[in-house]
Amino acid sequence: MTYTLITGAGSGLGRAFAVECARMGKHLILFSLPGSNLESLATDLQNEYQIAVHFFEFDMRDAAALQSNTDFVIRHFSIDFLISNAGIGGTSSLMETPLERIDDIIQLNVRSTSLLTRLLIPHLLQQPNSYILNVSSMAAFTPIAYKTVYPASKAFISSFSLGLREEFAGTGLSVSVLYPGPIMTNCNTSRRIIHQGMKGKMGLLSTSEIARIALTKTLAKYPVIIPGIMNKLNQFLMWFLPLGFRLRLVSKEVKKEMQFSTV
Ligand SMILES: NC(=O)c1ccc[n+]([C@@H]2O[C@H](COP(=O)([O-])OP(=O)(O)OC[C@H]3O[C@@H](n4cnc5c(N)ncnc54)[C@H](OP(=O)(O)O)[C@@H]3O)[C@@H](O)[C@H]2O)c1
Repeated sequence: MTYTLITGAGSGLGRAFAVECARMGKHLILFSLPGSNLESLATDLQNEYQIAVHFFEFDMRDAAALQSNTDFVIRHFSIDFLISNAGIGGTSSLMETPLERIDDIIQLNVRSTSLLTRLLIPHLLQQPNSYILNVSSMAAFTPIAYKTVYPASKAFISSFSLGLREEFAGTGLSVSVLYPGPIMTNCNTSRRIIHQGMKGKMGLLSTSEIARIALTKTLAKYPVIIPGIMNKLNQFLMWFLPLGFRLRLVSKEVKKEMQFSTV
């Protein structure tokens, strides 16, 4: 009996991953913050899909808690699929961003993903076939002013994932990286997307559509997953634009979102 471990499973894209995996009959281990209501999600999924679900509510920025919870999971369950989804961001100029917020983004997006991956890989390699899906963002494809730390953290995830993929080529472990465009998840992100009007809605997909695409392609061992035709087109155009032009273009749009900043 093998399990899929999903981080940030309490809401947004992580919750959609949990539902879609359950639909596929996968047993689940869910990580999220205390108060994420994982208990009711676990009960619903167990009842509806007759799968086993175990959940762990703790702050993944806490490296000691991450290690002890992961050690417990490894001792008690067999994992063959890791979905590293938990991540935070925001829009604000660097000098208006509190130090704690910068640290939070790095600790969650960069440190916890790297440590969890490192802790789980020996365990994943015990399975004949295993998978890692890391959630990056379209924001990884260009530096962006007024976000600065977030796109840099997602560029880290992109580089980390593709490096790992190469390192474990020829083993049973396949690593994929997902680059979603905008998604209506938490209310801050949703307000931002609504404010962008038609432009914001162009690459928009639902969390369940993104989760379904990402799961199918990860299990088919695709390295890079860009969900939706508009996002693929966007990435293609970005690739052609000179860095300075692309940086100014995207940053100008992002600057308009500063009014929705919560940091
Ligand atoms: N939304 C977008 O437009 C968008 C676009 C591209 C990429 N992404 C990426 O997609 C992933 C999911 O984003 P989302 O929009 O679905 O986010 P979300 O709605 O904010 O959900 C994030 C989940 O992670 C949990 N979480 C947050 N901090 C945590 C911590 N310190 N320890 C453990 N769990 C924690 C949250 O718990 P609570 O429910 O308790 O807050 C929540 O369940 C992220 O990596 C994000 O960068 C999002």
